This record gives sequence, structure tokens and C-alpha cells, in this order.
Amino acid sequence: MTSAPPPAPRRRSGATARIVLGVAGGIAAYKACEVLRRLTEAGHSVRVIPTESALNFVGAATFEALSSQPVRTGVFEDIPEVAHVRLGQQAELVVVAPATADLLSRAARGRADDLLTATLLTARCPVLFVPAMHTEMWLHPATQDNVALLRSRGLTVMEPASGRLTGVDSGPGRLPEPAEIAELARLLLERPDALPHDLSGRRIVVSAGGTREPLDPVRFLGNRSSGLQGFALARVAAQRGAEVTLVAAHTAELAAPAGVRMVHASTAASLREAMLAEAAEAEVVVMAAAVADFRPAQQADHKIKKTAAGPPTITLETNPDILVELVGKRRDGQLIVGFAAETGDETGDVLHHGRAKLARKGCDLLVVNAVGEGRTFEQPDNAGWLLSADGTEVELPSGSKALLASRVWDAVARRSPV
Ligand code: C5P
Repeated sequence: MTSAPPPAPRRRSGATARIVLGVAGGIAAYKACEVLRRLTEAGHSVRVIPTESALNFVGAATFEALSSQPVRTGVFEDIPEVAHVRLGQQAELVVVAPATADLLSRAARGRADDLLTATLLTARCPVLFVPAMHTEMWLHPATQDNVALLRSRGLTVMEPASGRLTGVDSGPGRLPEPAEIAELARLLLERPDALPHDLSGRRIVVSAGGTREPLDPVRFLGNRSSGLQGFALARVAAQRGAEVTLVAAHTAELAAPAGVRMVHASTAASLREAMLAEAAEAEVVVMAAAVADFRPAQQADHKIKKTAAGPPTITLETNPDILVELVGKRRDGQLIVGFAAETGDETGDVLHHGRAKLARKGCDLLVVNAVGEGRTFEQPDNAGWLLSADGTEVELPSGSKALLASRVWDAVARRSPV
């Protein structure tokens, strides 16, 4: 008689989870230590399962010390605990970083020739593979077929970053930054189905960060935008298969999202120019940047000096509204998403102001965030509403900025491609 496989372990309430961190044998294995540290510092209980070859790069003692848990590689250790079954069954998330070409191949075939692959077969929780290998190996049809097969089974295989590889080579195949891996791990714990590969081939441009409007060579008018929400939008879209360009103004120090093309801007004028150029080719445009509404009418070419006459008077002039301009130049079928940071006042609540802004700006979707009292700005978490021009309103529950991004992409994915 056959019995049904045991169900996936239910997520316990609270922020901490049982995570398995698989480490395959590539040079990027040393970065797994940083991923591990981030996961344990977030309060998770992390069991590291390296492959035998991973231990050529990082010793078991390092993983044991950082995780406070034993480290095994084979199925013939800890026999009484049946570790090759239990670890997978109990895991609430499996992260494999780095996932080498060989590991992806063994996982795709369903091999169980070591503790890590056996664990992958028994796990029923979300699995996040983070590839790292040379460009040729990543682009090889064998690897691409394995990746497609794993994705078709509902597992997440990250797009690798592009950049410096071992030796002098450079190209796609670099391990994404540990901060980015930790962000996506958190996202999958918040929402196991947050990363379907459903935006494949969609061309998306996202703006992020705050503009700076110079007053003189050393001073500017700026704002507190960290860029976190726009980066999360770009990151999640790229991991859902989209071709993403991120037009980044000034941000906190953030990891560049893997698989995303970056364009830099500084002032509202330069952001406008970049957005108009990029939007001409894009199917979806998201304005998450905090654009200064005003700029100094004059920019001094020397540092403005203190004088006995007292402080200078600064005259401001209005910047163009880029979102409104993008809506005016919208291509056929193009979807435009705006953001609104609102507070309630005596004339209405946050949603009331959001609805009015959606009508005024003319975009298709508007993400409305309640701000003030330490909410949203420079914070890792966000919440709000997603208002649609067709009158639909969806509440976006509190969670990571990546979680909010995943809800926005759900709404975009539901609309058919141009
Ligand atoms: O009017 P408000 O600044 O609240 O609108 C916010 C939305 O408009 C955001 O999507 C922001 O990126 C965009 N915006 C813009 N150009 C401006 C000001 C805001 O595109 N000058």
C-alpha cells in the first residue's frame, strides 16, 4: 500500500524558521558563511549541509561554529536520527548557495547520493537555488534545461549576478550578494509562492531612490528615500523572469539586484531623461523614485559663502511631473505604476488622498503607503493599498518591501503582455 507524502511543515507563527542551507562545491562557497550569518542573525535556526566538495573550500568547523549545529555530508552518518529524511521534512525553507552546475543537475534528476540531495528530495517547503558558476557552464543548454525543469516544479532558481568571476573572467554566473539572498529567503518564508517565473520576457523599467537638486557644487536639496522599495521591485521582477532596467537615483548602500541592468540618475531632470528613454522600449513602467517637486532656480557655480548680509534667499522652481509625462506618452498597452506616500488630514484619510492621486496622475496602478511616525521611509517593511484605475483596491499587508513588490507583480502578471 502506498501512502501520501507527508505535508509540508506548517510555518510556525513568529519570525524564526528552521532553514537548511545547502552549500555546493564552488569557490563562492566562502560567501555561504555570510549568508549563514545573516540568516542566524535574523533569528533562524540554520542547519548547514555542504557537499563533500564544498568542504574543499570551507571547513566543517566554520559552518559548525557559525550555525551552532553539527555538519554532515553523507547519508551514513547520524543513522539513528535518519537525518537524510528528517532534515528535509522539518525544513521550512531550503537555500542552496552556491548551487553549482553539478548540484543543479543532480537536483533536477532527483539523485540522492549525498545528504544535501537526499534532503532536497524529502523537503516539501520552498527551495531557493542560488547558482554560481562560470558563464559557459551557466549558459550551457544542459544547465539551462536543468534550471527550467527545476522551475517547472515550482522551485526557485535565482538569476545569477553578472560581474567578476574566478580569475580574469567576467559575465553572468556570479553569486548574488548575500544581502539579496537573505532578502529573497525572507520573502519565501513570508509567502512561499512569491517567486513564480511568470514575467518571462516582459520588459520592465523601475525608478528608485531620491533625486538631488544642486544648490551649489557642495549642497543640494534631497530627500530621505532609501531606494529599498524600488530595488525590491526590480529584484523580484528579475527573479520572476522579467528583463529589468533599474533607473537608480540616490539610495542607501544597497546590493545591486542580480540580473538587472542599472542606469544611474541624480537630478529630477536626469531621471526624467533616463525614464523617457527607457520607457520607450518598456511594457511596464514603475515610478518608485522620490522625485523632488522643486529645484533651486539658480545653481551657483561656486560654494555660496557666509556673508555679513545674512543667509541667501533661495528661489525654487517646479520640476516636471515625470509620472504624468510618462502617462501622456504611454505606448499602446503599456502599463504604468505610480507610488504615493500619503498621510491623512482633515480633508480625508490616506485612501481618499490615494484615489484622488490615481485620478490626477492617470496611471493604471497606484501603490499607496501611509507615511509618518517612522513608517516606510528608510524602513525594511512596508504596507498599504494597491489601487487600480478600474476601481479595484487591494490591501497590501505589512511585510518586507519584497513582499509588497511581489503583490504588485501579481497584479501586473494578471494583465496579458503587450
Ligand atoms: O505627487 P507625488 O509626488 O505624491 O506623486 C508620487 C508619484 O509621482 C511617484 O510615483 C513619483 O515617482 C512620481 N513623481 C514624478 N515626478 C515628480 C514627482 C513625483 O514622477 N516630479
